[in-house]
Amino acid sequence: MKFVSIIIGSKSDYEIMSECAKTLEKFGVLHEIVISSAHRSPERTHDYVKSSEEKGARVFIAAAGMAAHLAGAIAALTTKPVIGVPMKGGAMDGMDAMLSTVQMPAGMPVATVAMGKAGAVNAAYLAMQILALEDNDLRVKLQEDRILKAKKVETDSLEIEIRL
Ligand code: RP5
Repeated sequence: MKFVSIIIGSKSDYEIMSECAKTLEKFGVLHEIVISSAHRSPERTHDYVKSSEEKGARVFIAAAGMAAHLAGAIAALTTKPVIGVPMKGGAMDGMDAMLSTVQMPAGMPVATVAMGKAGAVNAAYLAMQILALEDNDLRVKLQEDRILKAKKVETDSLEIEIRL
């Protein structure tokens, strides 16, 4: 069973990260979402990563805010791709989480996406693009999605475009 594992640092991250789950759902990609914190529950995080990897997790998506070490902590436990989503909030409104997530030392990558809803959705797309390397049906679905996006630009443009 191949699936995407979404780990969020707190229940307060769920509202934004449900957008990630919804995006995977839309494409029929199997996923699970759990709460586990690098700081508040390090052993649970360790045990979850190890067991979900055995169960078939192919890509990990980690979302956390403030001094966000969750994605990095997961990257330390697996050689599967880890995608980090910095959460907004706190005194620095997410800048702290973004820098903590993106600035990994050489050899321990975390693919960091944008903060907020765009990042949550893009984490799902990036995970699917990774899975699509070995899944032709998913690759076709992603290509069709791009075609729909391009068509939407054209139809939106018809409503407002003025050209000489
Ligand atoms: C992080 O601290 C969580 O990922 C969350 O984004 C932030 C605040 O957590 P709560 O205090 O709302 O649980 O660990």
